[in-house]
Amino acid sequence: MKHINIGVIGSGFMGALLTKAACELPYVNCVGAADIDVSRASKLVNDVGGQAYDDYEEMLENEKPQAVIIATPEPYHLEPVRAAASRGMQIFLEKPMATTLEDADAINKICHNANVMLMIGYILRFEVSYAMIQSAISEGSIGTFMSAYARRMATIDEARRLEGRVSPLTYIGVHDIDQMLWYHPVPVQSVYARALRGRVWEELGTYDSAWLMIEFEDGAIGVHEVGWCLPEEWAKWKTPGSWSGFGDVRMNVLGTKGNLFLEFTPMNLYGVNREGWKMPDTRHWPTLHNKMIGAVKFEIEHFIDCVLNQKEPLVTGLDGRASLEVMLAAEKSIATGHKINLPI
Ligand SMILES: NC(=O)c1ccc[n+]([C@@H]2O[C@H](COP(=O)([O-])OP(=O)(O)OC[C@H]3O[C@@H](n4cnc5c(N)ncnc54)[C@H](O)[C@@H]3O)[C@@H](O)[C@H]2O)c1
Repeated sequence: MKHINIGVIGSGFMGALLTKAACELPYVNCVGAADIDVSRASKLVNDVGGQAYDDYEEMLENEKPQAVIIATPEPYHLEPVRAAASRGMQIFLEKPMATTLEDADAINKICHNANVMLMIGYILRFEVSYAMIQSAISEGSIGTFMSAYARRMATIDEARRLEGRVSPLTYIGVHDIDQMLWYHPVPVQSVYARALRGRVWEELGTYDSAWLMIEFEDGAIGVHEVGWCLPEEWAKWKTPGSWSGFGDVRMNVLGTKGNLFLEFTPMNLYGVNREGWKMPDTRHWPTLHNKMIGAVKFEIEHFIDCVLNQKEPLVTGLDGRASLEVMLAAEKSIATGHKINLPI
């Protein structure tokens, strides 16, 4: 069996999850983790092995991984990509691939010129129910796609963890945008969006929630409601440790000959006690008998398979750019109050 050495740049929340999931595959070995906060890199290598660094250039130079996971904050993806690609390393890059189209184009160009594979981390493509919606649409089971409605609402604790660094649209809404573009691969004509400002705005300066309407060139419509203003009581329990919180999530699709309904509220398990409610994640990255399972595992397994067997990944840099453009149009619409035509 072929083996592979990987490294990670950005050992925070998502970098750690992805690296742990990867290293549970028997043919994957972590050789290095980098983070400007070296204590995070050290904590991660304690679990998965390898050396901890505060400088990713040094990690890449010393450890020479074949592939890297890049999970730095949203605006800081370009330079780690440049550093990895210039050394011929294959790249898994978290979504959104950048926060400007200039950076996204630069990332795609750098990877193309260096002939390295780039996969963007759209985990919902590896969530079985979302993928089943895509196959139902592409195989004609509901006729022609007319519209999709997606809701993704997290608790205010998620917003607090990020301390106002990013909007809910950029952090979580871009996932549903990617799904809609995957379900209906027709160019987007325009985006109109409005934001709502409440408790999160007052506390952290990012809006609480937003509504988007995406118009495709053929007249189809995507509507997305995204936010992080569910009250703390939604996911209040501190224990058990395996019950990580989840929000209120759905995806409904309307076709000319049928409808599809995805409901993740709750994800088949919930509880209440005197602390309040808990709606746990049982699908994206739960642990079972101390091993990570769920979509994150399928996602990183797919990336490693693409690296080892020179396959094209399911989510490319061009997919990453397309969802980013819609996301940026929505942020611009919120800022200006106008409908934004694409391309921007
Ligand atoms: N696919 C998903 O479901 C999902 C979920 C959460 C986050 N994300 C994405 O993952 C990325 C990281 O988000 P997060 O929530 O893990 O953030 P985080 O803040 O928990 O982790 C980011 C880490 O990067 C480190 N960092 C910052 N600049 C660095 C640099 N120059 N070199 C090395 N390390 C650096 C920070 O110290 C931090 O530890 C973002 O793009 C985010 O949108 C994806």
